Amino acid sequence: MSIHIESFYHKDTSTWSYVVHDTQSGNSAVIDPVLDFDLHSGESSYQSVHQLVEYIRQHKLQLQWILETHAHADHLTAAQYVKQQLGGKIVIGAGIKDVQQHFAQQLNLDINTDGSQFDILVSAGDSLRLGQFEFIAHETPGHTDDSMSYEIDGNLFIGDTFFHPDTGTARCDFPGGSADKLFDSLQFLTSFPEDYRLWLCHDYPKGRDPVAATTVAEQKNNVHFQQSGGNPAAYVELRQKRDSTLAVPRLIFPSIQINIRAGQFPDDEPNGRKYLKLPFSIDNT
Ligand SMILES: [Fe+2]
Repeated sequence: MSIHIESFYHKDTSTWSYVVHDTQSGNSAVIDPVLDFDLHSGESSYQSVHQLVEYIRQHKLQLQWILETHAHADHLTAAQYVKQQLGGKIVIGAGIKDVQQHFAQQLNLDINTDGSQFDILVSAGDSLRLGQFEFIAHETPGHTDDSMSYEIDGNLFIGDTFFHPDTGTARCDFPGGSADKLFDSLQFLTSFPEDYRLWLCHDYPKGRDPVAATTVAEQKNNVHFQQSGGNPAAYVELRQKRDSTLAVPRLIFPSIQINIRAGQFPDDEPNGRKYLKLPFSIDNT
């Protein structure tokens, strides 16, 4: 009786997606699937996520869950395609409602802001059965308000909290983000046993291959912990200083418009085509 985890790296957005399955029952879950998207042309495709779908088919797995760690701002979710192909329920943290409210207002989107586009909204302590095992949902806010980590059998899928120990931690300057909250979430994640595996949502390798799994022991030596000496105030200062230098993510507006709809696309306009919005403003200084 064991869990198998298969990792898939999406190079264009440096994102890790996962297929997790119980080897006995064949029940499975997909975590953070990615839709290919070309910003210049607006064209999307299922080429990358098709690898996950094919993996599940080839291994004759039954898909139960499509887990989103949060509403991503740097890539588009392929959750709807996975659901269409294989079934399963789309799951995200209950904090998605706040994210929807913020962006519905900012982008003047005509969408429900009650999370009803998703099948299940989870809060801390909720569990989702996977054969002989279960996922336990943990709230790990800071990067966003809806950020969740999902624990299963000594593994934690941690979304955007820790990055690789040589890289640091996730930015906290998005709406609802908070460096104080992220510090608490990082402390929470390092309170698990030292050999627990922490699976990353992203890796941005410099001079090495991308890494998916880290451990609690390794993350206790995360470069941002080292630089702040594990002191909360020093960490918050370091995080806020770094965030003030970061550019707006390349795919934030397309990503948000798809991801807060659980991966559904906008309705067709009268000419039969779909469009995504871009806020426009003038700097008069
Ligand atoms: Fe993110």
